Amino acid sequence: MPSPRVLVTGASGGIGLEIARALAADGAHVLLPVRDRARGDAAVRSIRESVPDAALEICDLDLADFGTIAALGAKLREDAAPIDLFVMNAGIVLLGDRTRHVTVDGHELHLQTNFLGHAVLTRELMPLLVAAHARVAVQVSIAATRGRLDDLEGERRYSAWRAYAGSKRALGLWALELARRSDGISVNLCHPGVAPATHIAPTLRSRLPGGEERWLRWVPGNSPAQGALPALMALEQDAAPGSFFAPGGWFGLAGAPRERPLFRALRDPAAGRRLRELAATVP
Ligand SMILES: NC(=O)c1ccc[n+]([C@@H]2O[C@H](COP(=O)([O-])OP(=O)(O)OC[C@H]3O[C@@H](n4cnc5c(N)ncnc54)[C@H](OP(=O)(O)O)[C@@H]3O)[C@@H](O)[C@H]2O)c1
Repeated sequence: MPSPRVLVTGASGGIGLEIARALAADGAHVLLPVRDRARGDAAVRSIRESVPDAALEICDLDLADFGTIAALGAKLREDAAPIDLFVMNAGIVLLGDRTRHVTVDGHELHLQTNFLGHAVLTRELMPLLVAAHARVAVQVSIAATRGRLDDLEGERRYSAWRAYAGSKRALGLWALELARRSDGISVNLCHPGVAPATHIAPTLRSRLPGGEERWLRWVPGNSPAQGALPALMALEQDAAPGSFFAPGGWFGLAGAPRERPLFRALRDPAAGRRLRELAATVP
């Protein structure tokens, strides 16, 4: 039987690197789409230290640039090799930076990187995903519980935290609509809890609003490898479409993964339909 073919966004570091490592160790052929080739090469070296015969392939992708997403989609469709597993994991949060950044495509940077870019990438890959009856895992965040949908572009009021939380809630609602609509592929959601040893985490951990950082400092959190487990479970379990996997400990912050109830903020199919329509208008 041929190796499963897997695509993991954000595999150049942090949790995505550990998702890619685990899948490579399982014998998958892993595609690592990266925005920085040097970081991609370092990720390949890191995986090969623990999985010497890993089948890895770097390709170019900047979620903040729809042109690169279209180019990757065209290349992979030309290769005509179905994609069995797809993990939407890449994400940014620019805490401490008060400037509202806009991508070359005219969207607020968190919104495009975390949500719109993944929606467009999914559209590009859809024939390859359907051909493989793919399993798809979508990485959200506890921040999604606080996301607002009324000003996703942050034009009226901007902070990096609002942009991050809104983009993660939008991603989750859109992914659940994808789970409801898409015949032939299976879509589940996940979040890693708090994984303090990644690039994104120190700011995420120390800048939570409302004093939450005080008690969060007492939470040891998951290692990146533990933070990868909910996504791996989301790919592997025969669960109902749109199931949600997260750390099993208190408030989902850490611990071994298990299926958990969906955040209330994500239980809104009408919002999911609106986000699907929004995503269909780009690029
Ligand atoms: N760590 C936590 O505590 C935590 C908590 C909740 C949710 N999450 C979520 O888990 C996911 C992984 O986070 P992490 O903690 O592993 O963060 P990380 O170490 O910062 O990794 C983020 C990954 O996303 C990639 N990325 C960022 N912008 C991109 C772009 N424009 N195009 C393509 N790739 C891009 C990064 O690439 P570069 O190497 O080029 O930067 C990196 O590989 C994110 O979706 C995050 O929101 C993390």
